[in-house]
Amino acid sequence: MAILSFIVILAYLLSSSLAIELDYIHVSKSLSDGMTLVSQGGTFELGFFSPGKSQNRYLGIWYKKIPVQTVVWVANRANPINGSSGILTLNSTGNLVLKENETIIWNTASQKQAKNPVLELLDGGNLVLRNDGDSNPKAYLWQSFDYPCDTQLPGMKTGRDLQNDFDWRVTSWKSPDDPSPGDLSYGLVLSDYAEFSIMNGTKKFCRIGPWNGLYFGGVPNMKYEYIYELSYVTNKDEIFYSFSTKIDSLITRVVINQTSEHVLTQYVWDDKVQHWKLFGSLPADVCDYYGCCGAFGYCSAADTHVCQCLKGFSPKSPKAWNLSIWTQGCIRNEPLSCNVTSSDGFLKYTGFKEPDTQHTRLFENITLEDCEVLCLKNCSCMAYANSDIREGGRGCVMWFGDLIDLKLLQGGKQSLYIRMPASELEISRSHKKKVIISATIAATCGMLLLCYVIYKVRRNIAGNYCLFSHIISKSQHFLYMYSIAELKFCLNIASSQKTILV
Ligand SMILES: *[C@@H]1O[C@H](CO)[C@@H](O)[C@H](O)[C@H]1NC(C)=O
Ligand SMILES: *[C@@H]1O[C@H](CO)[C@@H](O)[C@H](O)[C@H]1NC(C)=O
Ligand SMILES: *[C@@H]1O[C@H](CO)[C@@H](O)[C@H](O)[C@H]1NC(C)=O
Ligand SMILES: *[C@@H]1O[C@H](CO)[C@@H](O)[C@H](O)[C@H]1NC(C)=O
Ligand SMILES: *[C@@H]1O[C@H](CO)[C@@H](O)[C@H](O)[C@H]1NC(C)=O
Ligand SMILES: *[C@@H]1O[C@H](CO)[C@@H](O)[C@H](O)[C@H]1NC(C)=O
Ligand SMILES: *[C@@H]1O[C@H](CO)[C@@H](O)[C@H](O)[C@H]1NC(C)=O
Ligand SMILES: *[C@@H]1O[C@H](CO)[C@@H](O)[C@H](O)[C@H]1NC(C)=O
Ligand SMILES: *[C@@H]1O[C@H](CO)[C@@H](O)[C@H](O)[C@H]1NC(C)=O
Repeated sequence: MAILSFIVILAYLLSSSLAIELDYIHVSKSLSDGMTLVSQGGTFELGFFSPGKSQNRYLGIWYKKIPVQTVVWVANRANPINGSSGILTLNSTGNLVLKENETIIWNTASQKQAKNPVLELLDGGNLVLRNDGDSNPKAYLWQSFDYPCDTQLPGMKTGRDLQNDFDWRVTSWKSPDDPSPGDLSYGLVLSDYAEFSIMNGTKKFCRIGPWNGLYFGGVPNMKYEYIYELSYVTNKDEIFYSFSTKIDSLITRVVINQTSEHVLTQYVWDDKVQHWKLFGSLPADVCDYYGCCGAFGYCSAADTHVCQCLKGFSPKSPKAWNLSIWTQGCIRNEPLSCNVTSSDGFLKYTGFKEPDTQHTRLFENITLEDCEVLCLKNCSCMAYANSDIREGGRGCVMWFGDLIDLKLLQGGKQSLYIRMPASELEISRSHKKKVIISATIAATCGMLLLCYVIYKVRRNIAGNYCLFSHIISKSQHFLYMYSIAELKFCLNIASSQKTILV
């Protein structure tokens, strides 16, 4: 027994002393199973590993300083190495080649001109191939950040490189034992008003929404602002966002995981308890599941009836709706008139997550007024909004066809104008009118009552006057008029200012 443990310890000591850590890989050097490439600050490490219960070997990057093995990138995700004979080499034309015996398992395919290439793992977790002496990121021959696996690290882009045709998208592992690409991915869905979305295969699973200048449509309360800096870039070459941490020592990552209920999760490493802490995840509630309320329905997680139809719409199938089967959505009570441009109008909604932006058109330099006119001209235009809500709003985005995946948000600031036939607008207008009329009647009654009270008070407290004009301006809030508090306030002002009655 003692001999056995001695052997185990010896083997361990031998193996750890044999572990070879490299800083760079040049053309003449190679990395074989058991060796690692370590980033300059010692944060990340590249080497061979076996995930979970698997015996297969993969070339990957993990945190060197964290005791819980956390792999952030895998080279040969879908093509494992069977034994410990994997070897990574850098060839003279500037490409990485991973071989098992003489079989090529994985390789890079950079077409860029290589001159004395060198492989380096940066402290941010980016594995880069560059010409020796040239550390300009734009000149990298190849970088792992262009080929995300399931993890987005600070400084890494998620979105699209339109010029070089990179889809910077994170894709889940099949299982904790198998890093090959699973069903779920997270990235940019291109359209005029492009948005980020979690996909299940080619189907939408949970929309994060488009960038409106302040936040992603579905996540209005970025509660991490004090820790993270988010940058969103859109131009003709690329559309992406990336995040960085404001605290240098903070270790954080965003992971997509198909074997967890927390599909897209932001983790932060807690050094005290030596444990990854969940900092936020999506889907956050039932309303985040794509299209849960169908067309023209909206989802409100706080309500008992999670799904509701927009004003002027009714469930397409009342029976199904009653059974909480909402996906068939809602239909209009009155058809749009469309033909006569002046007879449709718009209802304004504020605080919604905008509908699916797949069928949208964006006009960056058009005012909201012109946006409305343009929308009315096209019969299939169902809604419009400002594309950027900063500084009072600018830009015009129009939605065509069914409005899908609306969600009522807590703290949403975006306004959406939904097209309605004139008859429906009249209904809501006359409803409003009725409210105003009854309010006026009530206010008048209140005034009369108040006058009577003041009359009484004046008779009792001689020399005290009331600021009457103040009460008139408050007359819309006629409920206040009945309250004793208001009356006291009125008398207090009167006693200090001695204002004359109107
Ligand atoms: C590894 O093993 C699998 C199944 O046993 C086999 O299909 C594959 O070809 C092997 N890979 C190599 C590089 O030999
Ligand atoms: C280097 O590797 C790449 C990818 O396998 C290959 O296309 C290229 O021919 C190799 N260059 C040399 C000099 O072997
Ligand atoms: C690779 O070569 C080693 C040593 O010759 C051998 O043990 C191993 O089975 C080979 N691996 C494969 C997948 O052929
Ligand atoms: C993704 O879609 C497949 C097939 O439609 C389904 O079986 C699976 O449960 C879905 N995954 C998630 C996470 O919803
Ligand atoms: C994904 O979730 C499963 C189950 O919760 C967990 O075991 C696994 O470690 C997670 N994977 C990642 C990369 O976080
Ligand atoms: C919906 O259910 C309620 C009772 O839960 C019932 O009174 C009502 O008639 C139902 N409506 C339809 C359209 O089935
Ligand atoms: C528009 O007018 C044409 C002809 O007058 C009619 O056939 C069509 O149904 C109308 N469209 C709508 C949406 O009312
Ligand atoms: C919008 O206006 C800005 C500045 O006036 C201009 O630079 C930009 O090209 C315009 N965009 C479009 C799509 O016309
Ligand atoms: C309305 O807009 C849609 C989507 O942009 C377009 O396909 C269609 O041709 C437009 N219809 C008219 C009459 O302009």
